[in-house]
Amino acid sequence: MIKVITYGTFDLLHYGHINLLKRAKSLGDYLIVGLSTDEFNIIKGKTCYFSYDERKKLIEAIRYVDLVIPEKTWEQKISDIKEYKIDILVMGDDWEGKFDYLKKYCKVIYFPRTPEISTSQIKYDLSLVK
Ligand code: CTP
Repeated sequence: MIKVITYGTFDLLHYGHINLLKRAKSLGDYLIVGLSTDEFNIIKGKTCYFSYDERKKLIEAIRYVDLVIPEKTWEQKISDIKEYKIDILVMGDDWEGKFDYLKKYCKVIYFPRTPEISTSQIKYDLSLVK
């Protein structure tokens, strides 16, 4: 069984997220999402609209996703890869090169982002609605 992992915040779920998760799952048989916790988002400087528990419910409901685990630190990836026996780590190409140091533990693949959509863009656009 080929196991794939990806990490992210996935706030205000959108079709760019779905494309990424679908492509990630197509590489293997089992997809794990490391979902950043609210505490980790503070460290990353991100403010979420939905809480961790709300985002987790949304991600768990996606047919391509088999398991959601909390992402609490930058450093946990090596132990996650070992614990869950991960074969492939997938990220969008906004992270290009950032996780190459994990290549000695598993395959690392960056997919092109879906153009013209992001959580930040949705937040910006909706803030214009009064
Ligand atoms: N992603 C993607 N295409 C997009 C938006 C996101 O492939 N248009 C991918 C990211 O590269 C990442 C995952 O989806 O691997 C989760 O990204 P996240 O940062 O949660 O989503 P964004 O929409 O980029 O959020 P933000 O605007 O807050 O950065």
